[in-house]
Amino acid sequence: MVNQQERILIVDDEAAIRKLLRRKLSGEGYQCEEADSAEQTLDKLRSSPTELVILDIKMPGKSGIELLPEVKANYPHTTVIMATAVTETSIAIQCMNQGADDYVCKPFNLDEVVVSVVRTLEKRRLQLKIEECQQHLEEKVDQQTKEIRKLFLGAIEALVSALEAKDKYTAGHSRRVTDIAMAIGKELRLSTDDKEDLRWASLLHDVGKIAVNQLIQNKPGKLTPEEYEHIMIHASVGAGIVKPVVNEKVVEMIEHHHDHYDGTGLHQVVAGEDIPIGARILAVADAFDAMTSERPYRKAMSVEAACAEIERCQGTQLDPAVADAFLRIKNRESKLLDVITSRT
Ligand SMILES: [Fe+2]
Repeated sequence: MVNQQERILIVDDEAAIRKLLRRKLSGEGYQCEEADSAEQTLDKLRSSPTELVILDIKMPGKSGIELLPEVKANYPHTTVIMATAVTETSIAIQCMNQGADDYVCKPFNLDEVVVSVVRTLEKRRLQLKIEECQQHLEEKVDQQTKEIRKLFLGAIEALVSALEAKDKYTAGHSRRVTDIAMAIGKELRLSTDDKEDLRWASLLHDVGKIAVNQLIQNKPGKLTPEEYEHIMIHASVGAGIVKPVVNEKVVEMIEHHHDHYDGTGLHQVVAGEDIPIGARILAVADAFDAMTSERPYRKAMSVEAACAEIERCQGTQLDPAVADAFLRIKNRESKLLDVITSRT
């Protein structure tokens, strides 16, 4: 079947051979172009899309053998039929190993040339169709993977909300931490991708509390060092829970969200700028929400008092640049923190 849109470029240094092939293939309904050298071939391929090149192996200057890899590298969807003398079929076969699709022998049997052209163009159409299907399939798998991931993350988020809702002191904590962390991320001009990672890390940062003993967590008094150590396992447990469905950056933010900037946190292995930026942001947001939340053993701190405490912890527990960004937001948008911390 001839597709009227398909273009064939006939490459041969002998005008008589080009004319012979052109007459036959035009008669079959193909659009034909001619080139007498490698340079002219590349010029023509550059200027208009070509489905098939019939390429003479022996040409003065750059030969067809030398030109073939260049054509295949730059125009992978252009098919190539090598034209060769009967005595040199082994060279033609070598060309097929290097990407040529078929070969025809000189002197030409024109009917055989037509059969080769038809077959090669048909094979090309099928290959394009397969590539298109593969791409479509990959897009579909990609989309479904994203949907499954979103569903799973949504389920974990719901689990966190349910865990927090059981306790009036922590209800809505992760949602508020997310709002604050996102405001800091915006202030620090994080990229869109980094903000999306920060959003998931914030929403899920305390999911590991599922492994924490409720009695210890709600203890109405000062924790013993052992109890504190037990509660702190939630950072690594949480990182392990979300690991199969989030990227490494989100995992690290959750794992390090209780790290101290000066390296004095429990079992801490990195400090300062080596702590992921998302974890340093989470630390400020988490500290602020914890201080402005009521606890069984103390009243909630005011926004002003909590901000003063954040200022005091700059450079020790908290990253000074992140704390600065948070305090800038507070000074510029005084109502924002009141809205976020509002429990009604
Ligand atoms: Fe935490």
